[in-house]
Amino acid sequence: MAKKVLVTGGAGYIGSHTVVELIKSGYDPVILDDYRNSDASVLKRLAQIIGKEPEHIVCDVCDQQMLEHIIETHSISGVIHFAAYKAVGESVENPLKYYSNNIAGLVSVLNVIKQNPEIPFVFSSSCTVYGEPEGLKEVDEKTAKSIPTSPYGYTKWLGEQIIEDLFLANKKARMMSLRYFNPIGAHESGLIGELPVGKPNNLLPFITQTAAGIQDKLFIFGQDYPTSDGTCVRDYIHVVDLAEAHVKAMDHLLSLQKGCHETVNVGTGKGTSVLELVRAFEKENNVELNYTFGPKRSGDVIEIYANVDYAFSLLGWRSTRDIKDAVRSAWKWEKSIRNIK
Ligand code: UD1
Repeated sequence: MAKKVLVTGGAGYIGSHTVVELIKSGYDPVILDDYRNSDASVLKRLAQIIGKEPEHIVCDVCDQQMLEHIIETHSISGVIHFAAYKAVGESVENPLKYYSNNIAGLVSVLNVIKQNPEIPFVFSSSCTVYGEPEGLKEVDEKTAKSIPTSPYGYTKWLGEQIIEDLFLANKKARMMSLRYFNPIGAHESGLIGELPVGKPNNLLPFITQTAAGIQDKLFIFGQDYPTSDGTCVRDYIHVVDLAEAHVKAMDHLLSLQKGCHETVNVGTGKGTSVLELVRAFEKENNVELNYTFGPKRSGDVIEIYANVDYAFSLLGWRSTRDIKDAVRSAWKWEKSIRNIK
């Protein structure tokens, strides 16, 4: 029988793509979401991709009693925990919203893992834990973490620490923190993708909304950074590659006989500048984008990309899609939700 994996935040951007990849790999995902930052219509769209609506439960991750009940009654074999807020700016304005959802939610799920240490646990962490590493552009898992610059960053930084502390006290638990670099793109079907609530903060959704006429113009934040073309450099990872990494993480944890807390970078290993991404979008989609240069955004890291050797040696995973695939699929998705031909 297919192993059931509880996917908290499974209706969200990365969660929904992971649900598809879990099914493709023979797992039976159970979505847990209260749709506060997603839309229940994703279930119908998932059904078009995978042939049926995945099992789904409306629940707040902070509701520990309900989580315990679900784990027991659904015979859950693994948990992937996505449910969290992720807007850096909002986290500065409303830190308690972030601490109560991201930290209390994580603790609630981990309490259940503590009681069921045989259930593997995968956590959505972020390259934000590295901050701006001095003199380094490529970071590996041994690169020192730095003090975060936002409450959002702290929730990932502290989230990893909480998991580590739980492991030290419960050596049977099998846990992994995946440090995502910059997830972009959408499923090739154009049926699922990123759906930001309100004005997008992240680059590619801003690009696609500008191309769709929802935003007037894209501002590229800064043009005189010490990089190849003066704009910031990131490691943009296709969301489907990222989803596949979660499946590999679950496969790996389930195969282990002993406990662990692994931290693993999930990126492509390649840096791409803001301008390169904009140009790739224009070229691949044959669309002219209205953009201009604006002031630097405070707190932006200049240049960072992942060393991905550990993901390959531990999980046998590496990314197979490039930014061309990502900008094409993101535009296909934006067009499909805006009814653009
Ligand atoms: C950051 C975090 C990431 C986190 C994400 C959550 C780092 C290195 N990364 O991503 O871990 O998951 O926030 O939201 O800390 N840009 C523009 N114009 C725009 C929007 C963005 O020029 O309108 C530029 C930014 O200055 C940046 C790049 O695009 O150089 C990517 O920005 P964004 O998509 O917001 O991601 P990060 O800030 O890298």
